[in-house]
Amino acid sequence: MDTEQYAVTAEFYDYVVPYQARQDVAFFVEAAQASGGPVLEVGCGTGRVLIPTARAGSAVCGLDLSPYMLDVCERRLAQETIQVQKRVQLDQADMRDFDLGQTFNLITIPFRPFQHLIEVEDQIACLRCIRRHLADDGRFILDLFNPSLPIMAREVTGEEQGDEPEFTMPDGRRVLRRNRIVARDVFKQCHDVELIYYITHLDGRTERFVHAFPMRYLFRYEVEHLLARCGFAVEALYADYDKSPYGSKYPGELIFVARKG
Ligand SMILES: C[S@@+](CC[C@H](N)C(=O)[O-])C[C@H]1O[C@@H](n2cnc3c(N)ncnc32)[C@H](O)[C@@H]1O
Repeated sequence: MDTEQYAVTAEFYDYVVPYQARQDVAFFVEAAQASGGPVLEVGCGTGRVLIPTARAGSAVCGLDLSPYMLDVCERRLAQETIQVQKRVQLDQADMRDFDLGQTFNLITIPFRPFQHLIEVEDQIACLRCIRRHLADDGRFILDLFNPSLPIMAREVTGEEQGDEPEFTMPDGRRVLRRNRIVARDVFKQCHDVELIYYITHLDGRTERFVHAFPMRYLFRYEVEHLLARCGFAVEALYADYDKSPYGSKYPGELIFVARKG
């Protein structure tokens, strides 16, 4: 991912209705509290998970490559109490190559940032970096989507789709977000995805902005092998943030809890 991604869309992130509706925050907050901290959130974005984690009492370091996402996070943090602010440290860094000079009792990577890594060597570099930052008795939570075979069997038409409701920004702009898959590479396990933002200004002027990025999909046993190769042992595997076991629903999520192997 290049650092210019999210340059236009970071300001919309916290208003996207399905993001607001995600049921994962309590899961990560509870894991942070159980760990005793400190926590490292890799790909923390605008602080959707990080800020509730700090509010709940955990010391948390947020790492993200995008200065635009971190800027939103900083502005949100400035609205928090001094105690909450003191629990948070933000670092702009690449998840494949970082050195924070400390270890963490919990490292998380919520809402699929790991799937922005397309090449296996990037995935390995990231996992090795995470392992170096994990306390000996710490836990690592890797949060991915479980690839749906029926969805992947569908032909890629390149058509825009989506049924997300329009949202309104505090300054009155209305934003409708659609999406499309431009291409699927079944050999590289990768989709070229576009998130398309239709922005209507107060004066009626409209803009269309496209956030395009590749997204890798990974299968359950592939991730288990990858984790083992990078020195992790899988402790639990969930299909959802309510901790329902993998296999209890389809496609569900692909949420690994791992420790040092
Ligand atoms: C879908 S957002 C998830 C943000 C946050 N974890 C959440 O749950 O809302 C993906 C985030 O991963 C970050 N990201 C993508 N590639 C990265 C990389 N190589 N290193 C660090 N962060 C990266 C993006 O900047 C973005 O903020």
